[in-house]
Amino acid sequence: MCGIVGYIGHREAYPIILKGLKRLEYRGYDSAGIALYDGTDIKLSKTKGKVEDLEDKIKKEITTDGTLGIGHTRWATHGVPNDVNSHPHYSNSGNLVIIHNGIIENYEPLKQELESRGYIFHSDTDTEVLVNLIEDIKKNDDIKLGKAVQIALNQVIGAYAIAVFDKSKPNEIVVARLGSPLAIGIGDDEFFIASDASPFIEYTKNAIYLEDEEMAVVRRHRGVSIRKIHDDSLVNPYIQELQLHLEQIEKGGYDHFMLKEIYEQAHAISDTFRGRLLTDKAIIKMGGVEDNMKKFLNADRILIVACGTSWHAGLVAEYIFEDLARIPVEVEYASEFRYRNPVITENDLVIAISQSGETADTLAAIKLAKSRGAFVFGVCNVVGSSIARETHAGAYTHAGPEIGVASTKAFTTQITILTLIALRLARAKGTISSSDYRHHLFELEMIPEKVNQALESDYMVKQIAEVYKNAKNFLYLGRGYNFPVALEGALKLKEISYIHAEGYPAAEMKHGPIALIDEDMPTVVIAPRKGHYDKIVSNIQEIKSRKGVIIGIVTKGDVTVRELADHVIEIPETLDCLSPLLTTIPLQLLSYHIAVMLGKNVDQPRNLAKSVTVE
Ligand code: AGP
Ligand code: GLU
Repeated sequence: MCGIVGYIGHREAYPIILKGLKRLEYRGYDSAGIALYDGTDIKLSKTKGKVEDLEDKIKKEITTDGTLGIGHTRWATHGVPNDVNSHPHYSNSGNLVIIHNGIIENYEPLKQELESRGYIFHSDTDTEVLVNLIEDIKKNDDIKLGKAVQIALNQVIGAYAIAVFDKSKPNEIVVARLGSPLAIGIGDDEFFIASDASPFIEYTKNAIYLEDEEMAVVRRHRGVSIRKIHDDSLVNPYIQELQLHLEQIEKGGYDHFMLKEIYEQAHAISDTFRGRLLTDKAIIKMGGVEDNMKKFLNADRILIVACGTSWHAGLVAEYIFEDLARIPVEVEYASEFRYRNPVITENDLVIAISQSGETADTLAAIKLAKSRGAFVFGVCNVVGSSIARETHAGAYTHAGPEIGVASTKAFTTQITILTLIALRLARAKGTISSSDYRHHLFELEMIPEKVNQALESDYMVKQIAEVYKNAKNFLYLGRGYNFPVALEGALKLKEISYIHAEGYPAAEMKHGPIALIDEDMPTVVIAPRKGHYDKIVSNIQEIKSRKGVIIGIVTKGDVTVRELADHVIEIPETLDCLSPLLTTIPLQLLSYHIAVMLGKNVDQPRNLAKSVTVE
């Protein structure tokens, strides 16, 4: 949640920060603000709404000179999204100014304490408490900003990435992180601060990712010094070379990032395969799995923890692992798992799935599993993310940056990597025959091409979207491998069009949701030929006899469903276990087109944020 940006160097800070905020807006977009130091004073402007609203306001409100500044785009946790609660926040003296991503959980007692000492609070945020706590420490003990921040953070419970500066010492920005990401870009006598590297990618390829419980003082002309917040030990900065390219974070001619990312899926899946799927040699090669093969093979069960779309990918994986590798699997919402005292033993292998690698609930679930002795394997997209670092081993999906808040290519690449793992384990365990294994590899290799064929349905999906865009409810049904796809299709529609939608296992419909069926409610039925086709056809008939409307996702050449359904969308034929990689495509497109037709903000749906770094 929340994007933070900062700059200190020889260029004008404002355009860098503004552009950086636009790139980070996917992280939160309730409100935005910027504070600049113009050589004499702080110039601050902030507003409810988007970064473009801020840009308009700034033009009327402040001058934008200065080579030091910080900016923020918010996803509110404490206090409604209004101008006052927007960041940056001043301390009472007006000397300090802060931006913050995260939650200060013990803000209430700290606030009372500060109020008793005369501090006045203008906003409802937890963040304003932190900046005044820093000020209070600094003022009382007459110590440097970095030290005051450190003492303050030692009193704080919660999660944060912060950047703070002091106008009386305007040649440094102090930053710190615990639970929320923070990167420092190292340029030529200039430094960039951001929640991820996208704001500074055109200026430098060198970055330091702060670890949890680290803070840094970034000094003009002098560099970055990092230390541990809790024990004050100095940390040697590790400078990484970034692999990110500018074109990856731009829309590249598409109207929305979501559409671009839907269309990128064939490519993204190929990137997930690269160096891992060696079909001609009949080999699957994955370092993280090979190095820990014993752990995988000796595990009593696999526990998958994730949230949202990643949880849906986990459900698909449950079917694949059990089907192919015969390993018992349980899939858990990370948010429930972490708070219900689950039974975990050293013989469990936990797989944590996360696009962002920053989801707070998933991170907490990992820590819990580790504390009980389980081996934790991460499946992440964002390289170097907190989850990637917190897990014992893992595999990146290599899908490239996913910026649309609604996850698309992350989902299909997560399924891809989990399928590779399942096949590798099946081979090692001997639960799949050599010919079947080869056949699976061959079919898997064909998937990118088939994804592109599935995308050819776009025009037809758009026509269907036009017909049903005003429906109030949608039902999505699927069985077996495509039950999680039904859940994912419904989530996509809810997220970006705000239409109520439910995903259900098709056979469960008769235990309740069938009561909803009437001529006004479209039911999307995922009915590829392989799988439980006949059963699904019966479910379709049950809906038709109650005057329901059917949109069928079928295998190319299908006849039976075509006769029964009001509309069909064809996908290429593949193995049952690989079908989610194709059936998902038209569902993503359906939600996309409906949302666009309804005039919704597709890439930044209301109330959501791309990476959920709070509980
Ligand atoms: C997907 O469209 C969502 N916006 C959301 O459910 C997301 O999948 C979830 O928050 C998990 O995120 P992660 O994969 O980054 O951990
Ligand atoms: N807790 C802070 C607020 O509500 C920061 C929230 C965030 O991370 O977006 O303003």
